[in-house]
Formats: sequence, C-alpha cells, structure tokens
Amino acid sequence: MKKITKICCIGAGYVGGPTMSVIANKCPHIAVTVVDINEDRIAQWNTPNLDNLPIYEPGLKEIIRESRGKNLFFSTDVDKAIDEAQMIFISVNTPTKTYGKGKGQAADLKFVELCARNIAKVAKEDKIVVEKSTLPVRTAEAIKNILDHTGNGVVFEILSNPEFLAEGTAIDDLLNADRVLIGGDDTPAGKAAKNALSDIYENWLPKERILQTNVWSSELSKLVANAFLAQRVSSINSISALCEKTDANIAEISRAIGFDSRIGPKFLNASVGFGGSCFQKDILNLVYIARSFGLKEVADYWEQVIIMNDYQKRRFADHIIQSLYNTVSGKKIVLYGWAFKKDTNDTRESAAIHIADALMDERAEIVVYDPKVSEERIYADLDYLETRTPDENRTLLKVVSNPMEASREAHGIAVVTEWDEFKSYDWTKIYELMLKPAFIFDGRRILDTQNMRQIGFNYYKIGEA
Ligand code: UDX
Ligand code: ADP
Repeated sequence: MKKITKICCIGAGYVGGPTMSVIANKCPHIAVTVVDINEDRIAQWNTPNLDNLPIYEPGLKEIIRESRGKNLFFSTDVDKAIDEAQMIFISVNTPTKTYGKGKGQAADLKFVELCARNIAKVAKEDKIVVEKSTLPVRTAEAIKNILDHTGNGVVFEILSNPEFLAEGTAIDDLLNADRVLIGGDDTPAGKAAKNALSDIYENWLPKERILQTNVWSSELSKLVANAFLAQRVSSINSISALCEKTDANIAEISRAIGFDSRIGPKFLNASVGFGGSCFQKDILNLVYIARSFGLKEVADYWEQVIIMNDYQKRRFADHIIQSLYNTVSGKKIVLYGWAFKKDTNDTRESAAIHIADALMDERAEIVVYDPKVSEERIYADLDYLETRTPDENRTLLKVVSNPMEASREAHGIAVVTEWDEFKSYDWTKIYELMLKPAFIFDGRRILDTQNMRQIGFNYYKIGEA
C-alpha cells in the first residue's frame, strides 16, 4: 500500500468539516480536500472571516486558521479531488427516509449511493473508500457492489470508520478520542487499507485506542454506542417523571447511581428529551434492521427508548399548559434556547421544535431566543413539520435577539437548551418584566431552585416535585 499523501472527503458538513480539519492539522504531510456540491457551504468554509464558518465548534476556527490554504482545502470540484486522492472519505448526510419502504425508520442512502457512483466513474487508480457517514449495517457491502460493478477495473478497498464526535465538543473528541474504530476485510489488501488509515490517526492518538474489526462490527458498533447513550437519557428521564410525583430528586438519584463504577456518572442528566442528528436516527436504524431480520422483541426493546423520549417532550409541554391554568391561548411563552444542546447551532431533532409545536397547537404566542440559531433555521424547522402553514408559523412564533426584552409581559419562560449564559441572566429583572404570577419551566435543570423561588417565580424543574 502506497503512503497516503492525498485525501478527499465528500461532504463538508458537521462530520466532514471538523474531522478533516483535524486530520489536516495533525498530518501536515497529507493534503486534505473537502468537497461538497453545495456551493454556498464551500464558500462559507472558505470565508476570510472565521466567525462565519458554516458550523460553530469550539476550537475549530483556530485549526482552520492554521491549516487552511496550506494542506486543507475546500472545493466544489468533486471529480478532481476524487481523481487525485488515494483515500476518499464519504461523509454525506443520511437522513431517515421520508418516503417508500422503511419510511420514518430506514436511512436514506441515496446521497451515499450517488457518491459511490461518482467515485466509480472518476477513479482511474486503486483507492481506499472510507464510510464516515452514520450508516446502517451492510452499507459498506452496498458501496463495494456499486464500485466493483460500475468502475473502470480499478480496485477499491472499503473501510468503515464511524465518527463518535459529539457536537460542541467535536474538536476535543477528535483530538482525544476514546477510541477510533476501523472496520475492513480480513484479506491482505483489507488489512493493508486498515493499517493505512490507522497510520493517519496514529499521528496524534496512541495505537491502543485504534481498534480494528470486521466491517459489520464497526458499522453496528456505531449504532449500538448511540443506542446505549440514548437509552441512558431515556432511562433517567423516565425516572424524572416518577420523581415529580414523589419527594425524590432526580439529581440525587443520578448522583447516587452514578457513583456505582459499573454505571458511571455520564449521560444521566434528566432533560426535555434528547435531540441531535444521531440518536433517534441510529436507533430507528437499529430497530429497522432488527425487524427486517424478524427480531421483533429486539426491535420493540430499542424502540421504547424513542417512545420514552417523545413522552418526555410531550410531558414538558403538557406541564406548561397545565400550569398556566390549562390554557395558553394568546399567552406569551418564551423559549430560551432552540439548539438540541448548548454550544452548537445545530437544531436537528431538537426537543424545542416539538415543544413549540405542541404549544402552538394550543395557540400560544411563542417567542424564541437562542444565542446561536438563526431565525431562518427556526422557521425552517417548524415548516418542515407541516403542522401548519409557513404564514401561521410566522404569526404564532417570533424570533428575537434580546433575551431580556423577550421576557417583557411573558406568562412563562421555558429553558429548553442548557446555554451557560442563561445561568448568569439578571433573573430579578426578568421577574419584574414578566406578568405575574411568573412561571419558569426549567427543562435543563440549570437554574437554582431556591434562588428562583426567592425572587418570586413559580419555578418548575424537570425531575423535582
Ligand atoms: C451523539 C454522540 O454522543 C456521539 O458520540 C455521536 O457520534 C453522535 O451523537 P451529539 O448528538 O452531538 O452526539 O450529542 P450528545 O452530547 O450525545 O447529546 C445528545 C442529546 O442528548 C442532546 O440533546 C443532549 O442534550 C441530550 N442529553 C445528553 C441529555 O438529555 N442528558 C444527558 O445526560 C446527556
Ligand atoms: P453530517 O452531519 O452527516 O455531516 P450534513 O448535512 O451536515 O451531515 O453534511 C452533509 C453534506 O454532504 C452536505 O453539505 C451536502 O451538501 C453534502 N453532499 C450530499 N451529497 C453529496 C454528493 N453527492 N457530493 C458532494 N457532497 C454531497
């Protein structure tokens, strides 16, 4: 296997952008080109003002500043980058299907397939193709099939190298990865390809953390890792509902069980429900695969994690409605936060979308403030639901840029994203601006109960009576 000196990554999104930036930064001897068919996106990655990068990740800007133009390039010339690279990462989006067989569950692989066909068309020399997108099990096989049957006699080795980066900490997750998973064939050529990719990561990670497996184990591990993490959130959220009916406190329970070293303290924060592009999609994929093999009990078991998550979002919205005397019609309710978690501008599957939608069904007047999410994004999220017309969405929901002003004459404020800045607001001032009784619904448990009640708020914290 020749030494890798040129990498191409197809797809300049949340996965491709940061991953390739870190690889370029840590491997100055490799030229990395990230390509995308979306011209605006590439223009944004090439922006002279690094505050205008298409995604916000702490630490990303600094890395781009160091490497862009040296050995890191963003381009729309997909074919040229494929032609020149010895290793090609596929990092395009794989949304849940919205049509046909597997609708609402299976991953839509059309973008991945188009990439594979494009690679087959352009490649004139042997290449390693790495699947980086979140994919259902057996995608590598499908990619291989397309490449082998439509290519120009070129030999392709297919690897699975799932990403485990969490948004908001993507750069740190890449620099200090718990592990890197590389799946590939056990043939001599497959092993050589795995080693070639391992060599890249070994530029900054200890070899012990780079695990080589067969392709299917690697693909399935990704889904299972996310399913286990989501399951922890759903488990603690289910208990939060029970805590609200008793005098038990969810924070005390999380702490008590987290001290058991077999359980561990992470991912035990009760919340309005998990969001993000991965958890729901990956579990749906797992459910779909299990069901397609006739494993009904397995499918039902994992599906329950999503059912519990939907319940938690609905329960939070219902609690707001009940607290406001069973009617929110015409009442101003402020949502602090729209992103699916703090430190990201990503809103995919964010709990906020469903909470707003449920409140809008009751004709509440919603005002949203989020430090990083744009107005266009918020309306696009609502329009995508197709619950009501775009005009109705824009009448019932307003997006504002001043959080203090937003609270003026509001009946209630719901904290749906755990942005740090919410903790340091002048809550006494907010109380004065709001209508009385003033309600706070803390879906992220970030405010101090005693302090909020002292100010005079009717304060509800998820997981506490
Ligand atoms: C996740 C995985 O962590 C990552 O390894 C994978 O590659 C992609 O999916 P991400 O979606 O970016 O990453 O976010 P994550 O930090 O895992 O949070 C997911 C959701 O769960 C968020 O909405 C978060 O607010 C919620 N969450 C997380 C909780 O509600 N409670 C917790 O204790 C932890
Ligand atoms: P992820 O979170 O998986 O990174 P994103 O939606 O943020 O997903 O990014 C995926 C990117 O892949 C998008 O910018 C999209 O334009 C790009 N893309 C999809 N199909 C192709 C293709 N055939 N060739 C090049 N880029 C593609």
